[in-house]
Amino acid sequence: MAVSFAGVSLKNPVAVASGTFGFGREYGLRFDLSRLGAICVKGLTIAPRGGNPPPRVAETPMGMLNSVGLQNPGVEAFIQNELPFLRKYDVKIIANLSGETVAEYAELAGRLSDAGVDMLEVNISCPNVKAGGLAFGVDPASAAAVTRAVRDRSNVPVMVKLSPNVADIADIARAAEAAGADALSLINTLLGMRIDVNTRRPVLARGVGGLSGPAVRPVAVRCVWQTAQAVKIPIMGMGGVMTADDAAELMLAGASAVAVGTALFRDPEAPLDVIDGLAAYCARQGFTRAADLTGALR
Ligand code: SIN
Repeated sequence: MAVSFAGVSLKNPVAVASGTFGFGREYGLRFDLSRLGAICVKGLTIAPRGGNPPPRVAETPMGMLNSVGLQNPGVEAFIQNELPFLRKYDVKIIANLSGETVAEYAELAGRLSDAGVDMLEVNISCPNVKAGGLAFGVDPASAAAVTRAVRDRSNVPVMVKLSPNVADIADIARAAEAAGADALSLINTLLGMRIDVNTRRPVLARGVGGLSGPAVRPVAVRCVWQTAQAVKIPIMGMGGVMTADDAAELMLAGASAVAVGTALFRDPEAPLDVIDGLAAYCARQGFTRAADLTGALR
C-alpha cells in the first residue's frame, strides 16, 4: 500500500482532507493516527482567525455546505502547540496555508517548512473569505505567482490545492506546475447556496458556502482525470470519498493519493475502512501495488 507522493513516502495513499480533521486531537481519541498515510491539517493563516459568523454549516442532499472562513489559531500556535502533538505519530503532516497576499503565503511557507512539516498544501481555492483564497486560484497568473513565492521559501514539497470553480482547471494546474509545484490537490469545494423558504433568508450567515460530500464526487473524478492529462506532477484526489471504491475511482482517474473529508463527519473511522477496502480492491483487481492504480483507467 506504500506510495511515494512527490518524494514523500506515505505508508498508504489515504490522507484526511484539510478542514475536516482539525489538528487530529479529537480523532486521536478514536483511532491511532499512525494508520493514516497523511494528515492535511486545518488551513493556517499568519494571525489567528475566528472564522465567519454562524450558521456556517448546513446539510444538503448527499453533502454539506460550509462557510467556516478559515478559523484557526494562527501559524505560531500551530507550530508551538499542535505540531509537537502530531509529531508523536508516525504519519506525514501536510500543512495547509492561506494568505491574503503573495507575501503572506511566502512567509507561511518559510515558517512551516522550517518547523519541519513534511509537505505544504497551498490553499488558493477557499471560497469563504473576501481576500485571498479563491481569488488566487481562478487566474493562472495569480496561481503561478503564489506557487513560485511558496516554492522559493520552502524546503519541503509544495502541493497546490485547486478549485473546481473555474472555467478550465487544467489551465490553473499547468500554471502551478510551471511555477514549481511538486504536486496538486483537488478538488476544493464547489460554490453553493441554500435558502430557508420560511424565513426567506440564506441558511448560511454569509449566503454562499462550499459544497462537499458524495454529491461532488463526479465533479472531482472529472477534474482529476482532466488534470492528470495536463500535468506530470502527482495529484491528491479528493471530493466525496466515502468508500474504498470511491478512492479507487479517483486513483483510476489519475490520482496518486486520495483524501477523505466530509465522510469523517458521518463516520470518524471512515479513512480506516477506505485503507482496508483499497487493499482488498487491489487484491481483487490483481494490482500488487496500490501505486499501480494511478491512471489505470481503461
Ligand atoms: C473554510 O475554512 O472556509 C474552508 C476552507 C476551504 O474551503 O478552503
